[in-house]
Amino acid sequence: MQLILLSKPRTLQLFPLLLCLLLLPCLPQPLPSPSPSPSPSPASPSSSPSASPAARSLPLSPFNERLEAAYVAFQAWKHAITEDPKNLTQDWCGPFVCNYTGVYCAAAPDDPHVLTVAGVDLNHGDIAGCLPDHLGLLADVALLHLNSNRFRGTLPPSMQHMRLLFELDVSNNLLAGAFPTFLTSLPGLKFLDLRFNAFDGELPPAVFGRRLGLDAIFANDNRFNVSLSSASLTNSTASVIVLANTRLAGCLPPSIGDMADTLVELILLNTSISSCIPPEIGKLRKLKVLDLSHNDLAGELPASVGDMESLEVLNVGHNTLAGEVPEAICELPRLRNLTIAGNYFCDEPVSCLHVPLRDDRMNCIPDWPHQRSPEECIAFAHRPPPHCAADGCIVIPPP
Ligand SMILES: *[C@@H]1O[C@H](CO)[C@@H](O)[C@H](O)[C@H]1NC(C)=O
Ligand SMILES: *[C@@H]1O[C@H](CO)[C@@H](O)[C@H](O)[C@H]1NC(C)=O
Ligand SMILES: *[C@@H]1O[C@H](CO)[C@@H](O)[C@H](O)[C@H]1NC(C)=O
Ligand SMILES: *[C@@H]1O[C@H](CO)[C@@H](O)[C@H](O)[C@H]1NC(C)=O
Ligand SMILES: *[C@@H]1O[C@H](CO)[C@@H](O)[C@H](O)[C@H]1NC(C)=O
Ligand SMILES: *[C@@H]1O[C@H](CO)[C@@H](O)[C@H](O)[C@H]1NC(C)=O
Repeated sequence: MQLILLSKPRTLQLFPLLLCLLLLPCLPQPLPSPSPSPSPSPASPSSSPSASPAARSLPLSPFNERLEAAYVAFQAWKHAITEDPKNLTQDWCGPFVCNYTGVYCAAAPDDPHVLTVAGVDLNHGDIAGCLPDHLGLLADVALLHLNSNRFRGTLPPSMQHMRLLFELDVSNNLLAGAFPTFLTSLPGLKFLDLRFNAFDGELPPAVFGRRLGLDAIFANDNRFNVSLSSASLTNSTASVIVLANTRLAGCLPPSIGDMADTLVELILLNTSISSCIPPEIGKLRKLKVLDLSHNDLAGELPASVGDMESLEVLNVGHNTLAGEVPEAICELPRLRNLTIAGNYFCDEPVSCLHVPLRDDRMNCIPDWPHQRSPEECIAFAHRPPPHCAADGCIVIPPP
């Protein structure tokens, strides 16, 4: 049925009612009476879309080729859905897709007289199924929000035709396989949220590239490998980068400071990084949230972190950092949540006591509650101290 529809778009007008009757539980909807001017011509007497943006969609004809293509896409999608416990797609029948639950229409950016599908929002739908290749027929979609559903498989390659896609959120689904490479060629993509899926393999360097220019990258809680050694990540101009619970290979390079103009939030929690923290991190003056916890970071916390004047939340907990906590860090004006727990710090300045939320447990701070045992701290002190190489990597000298 879908293939027939695809190959004969002219017959679409006849099929909807038929399909609706076949695909229970759709209720048959009456076809709306044809509008007086079926062609999407600007000459319609009542319409003055540019004068009144709020009412712009009202005078637009609900029938045009783009909505017909969208109709094919939504029917194929509905067909690919196996469970829809909230009945969100129950009203996905009839040719006027703009009335479907979760579907948002607007005037096409390239032609203000044509109504087109601009957004789809099925967030928290708990829908099970897959994403059919017909999805690419939604060529004008700017927002695609599918978070917290049970979509399996991968993103169909036809989505490369969504040239206007701006926000893609498929977080918290069952999507798997390699990173959908075509995403890196979407010219308008700014917000990419793939978190909590089962994607694997290499996260391509182009994700962080300036050509793509993503503003927010959420790739956490997948099985991605990300290479730090090519320094591709630090080329990013994103304001938010979240890679928690993935696997990062390589060390934190001094080029991390290159993201100074844009980076606001960097979450690298539990990414298996074995590295020093390069002093260049202090260049990130706009950074508000830095989470490097649950890794294998060694050496000292650089005093330059005290230059990160926007910093509000700092978590370097559960690494093997040592030495003193630099006083300048605790004097940062906006710092309100500091976690250094689970390291081997041997001193913490008094000024740190003024940070509203502070967790310094399980370190080696003398005469302080909840610290490691003296034996553990002495054993650590006898280990050869690490040296940090120019690329940020830890060099352990032979004993
Ligand atoms: C969905 O529709 C089915 C059949 O019409 C009905 O039994 C069920 O209660 C509906 N569920 C919700 C959440 O509305
Ligand atoms: C869309 O829904 C509205 C409100 O329910 C209704 O008045 C209108 O006729 C519908 N449009 C079409 C084309 O079905
Ligand atoms: C990801 O990293 C793990 C461990 O380093 C390795 O075994 C695996 O082969 C890597 N996968 C890819 C696709 O690079
Ligand atoms: C990162 O930027 C540098 C210099 O601008 C460039 O030479 C390099 O190819 C870029 N790397 C990637 C992976 O984009
Ligand atoms: C770290 O990530 C792994 C999966 O990559 C997970 O099994 C583990 O529970 C995570 N640990 C923490 C502390 O979040
Ligand atoms: C403070 O930071 C810790 C560690 O990052 C986090 O678990 C906690 O939720 C934060 N508290 C607040 C109130 O933000």
